[in-house]
Amino acid sequence: MATTIAVPRPTVRSSETPLPPHDGKRPWKVDVEHLSFFYGDKRALEDISITVQPNVVTAFIGPSGCGKSTFLRTLNRMNDIIPGARVDGKVCIDGQDIYGPGVDLVSVRRKVGMVFQKSNPFPKSIFENVAYGIRINRIASSRSELAGRVEESLKQAALWDEVKDRLQESALAMSGGQQQRLCIARALAVKPDILLMDEPASALDPIATQRIEELIYQLKANYTIVIVTHNMQQAARVSDFTAFFWLGRLVEYERTDKMFTAPSEKLEMGGLAEERVRAAVQSLGDRDIAAIDRVLRGDEPINELHVEIDNRCFKLLALHQPMATDLRAIVAAVKINTDLERVGDLAVNIAEAARRYATHPPVKKLIDIPQMGDIAQTMLHDALDSYVRRDTILAHQVLNEDDRLDGLKTQIFRELLGYMLDDPTTVEPALDLILISRHLERIGDHATNIAEDVIFMVSALDVRHHAPNPPV
Ligand SMILES: Nc1ncnc2c1ncn2[C@@H]1O[C@H](COP(=O)(O)OP(=O)(O)OP(=O)(O)O)[C@@H](O)[C@H]1O
Ligand SMILES: [Mg+2]
Repeated sequence: MATTIAVPRPTVRSSETPLPPHDGKRPWKVDVEHLSFFYGDKRALEDISITVQPNVVTAFIGPSGCGKSTFLRTLNRMNDIIPGARVDGKVCIDGQDIYGPGVDLVSVRRKVGMVFQKSNPFPKSIFENVAYGIRINRIASSRSELAGRVEESLKQAALWDEVKDRLQESALAMSGGQQQRLCIARALAVKPDILLMDEPASALDPIATQRIEELIYQLKANYTIVIVTHNMQQAARVSDFTAFFWLGRLVEYERTDKMFTAPSEKLEMGGLAEERVRAAVQSLGDRDIAAIDRVLRGDEPINELHVEIDNRCFKLLALHQPMATDLRAIVAAVKINTDLERVGDLAVNIAEAARRYATHPPVKKLIDIPQMGDIAQTMLHDALDSYVRRDTILAHQVLNEDDRLDGLKTQIFRELLGYMLDDPTTVEPALDLILISRHLERIGDHATNIAEDVIFMVSALDVRHHAPNPPV
C-alpha cells in the first residue's frame, strides 16, 4: 500500500546523492550546497546541503546551540557583520550564489527579509517603523505611495485594524505581540521574496503566538518562509517541511507530517505486513512451496523499515523532549512500528508451518483458517487506516473484531483435536494448523494494540484495560 506524496519533496543532499531534477515550473527558491560556517576557529555548521521550494514554510528545529540561528543568518548574509566569521560552500537564491563575486548585499537583504526572536522596533512612530525600509531603499516615489505601502504592509501583518488610528504613536507603546507583528510588517514593506523568522513567537503569550502562526499561514501564499522554532508543536502546526539540526549538522529533512509521525512509512510497512499475512495464508491453502519460500525470504524490507522508523522516532524523543500530543504521537509511532514488525515475524512463522504442512496429506478442507486470515488482515488494515486518519471509531471497530478471531481459533482447536484423536497420523499436520491459527490470533492482537494506541494518541484515553465499546 504505497502512498503518494502530493508536493515534490525537498532533499537533503550529500556528495553521494545527486541534485534532484528541476521540473522547470518550480525552481528551488533556496539551494544550499555543502555549506560550512566558522566563528573564528570554531566550526558551527558542517557541510549542509538543503533545497527549499517557493511558497512553503520550512521549520528549523533542534536543541539549543545546534546552529539553527547561524544557518538562518547565512541565508541573507547577516553573519557577515560578525568579526572572524567565515563561510564555505554556496547559498543560491533563485539560482544566484549570494556569496559569489559582485553580489549586492543590500539587494540580498531586501530579497531575504528577517524577523528576530526579540521584537526590535525603532524608537519611532508606528508609521515610521514601517516606512523606514521603503525610504532607504527608495521604493516609493511619492508620499501617497509611501502611505499606501505602509498600510498594505500593516494589513499583511494583520495589524492594520489595531493601529490605523494611532499610526503616529510610538511603536514602543505597543504590546509585545503587536511589536512583533510590526517587525513583520517592517520586513514585508520592502517586498522580500523570502522571510526568515528566528523564534518569532518565543517571547509571546499563547494568544499572540496564535496570531503570528495564523499570519505565517496566510503569508506563505506570497512568501517563502523559513522559521526557527523550539516548539515542536509549532513546527507541526505551521510548517510544510521540517529540518532537524544537531551539533551543526542537518540530520533530517522531511515533510513535516512525515517527520512527526512517519505515516507513509508506517503505511508502507503495514502494507508489506498485510501482504505477507495474505501470502502466507494463501500459500498454505495452495500448498505452493515456491510461494512459501517467497514469504520466508521477504522479511528484509520490513526489518529495514522498522529500524528506519524507530531511529527517526528515537531521535525526536531523545533530542527534542516532546510534550503532550507530540509525545503521544511519537510513542504511538514507536509501538505501532514494533507491532508491525512482529506481524512480519508471525507471517514467517505461518509460512514455516505451511511448509511443514505441505509435506503431509491435507488433514481437512481449509475454511476457517483462511477466514481467520481475512479477519486478521482486515483488522490490520483498519487499524492502520484509523492511525492515518486519526479515526477512533474505526479503531474501536478493530477492538470489537478481536472476539471473532478468538472464537474461530477455539473452534479450529476443538475440530482438529477430534481429527487427531481419530487418526494419529494427522497429529503433526493438525498441530501445524493449530499453530497457524494461534499466529493469526496474535496478528489480531497486534492490530488491537495498534487500534488502542490510536485511541490513546487521539484522545489520551487508555482503553487497554476497559471494555472495547465504541463511543456513541
Ligand atoms: N557570534 C558568535 N560568536 C561565536 N560563536 C557563536 C556566535 N553565535 C553563535 N555561536 C556558537 O555557534 C553555535 C550555534 O549557535 P546558534 O545560535 O546558531 O544556535 P541555535 O541552534 O540557534 O541555538 P538556540 O536554540 O539556543 O538559539 C553555538 O555553539 C554558539 O555558541
Ligand atoms: Mg537561535
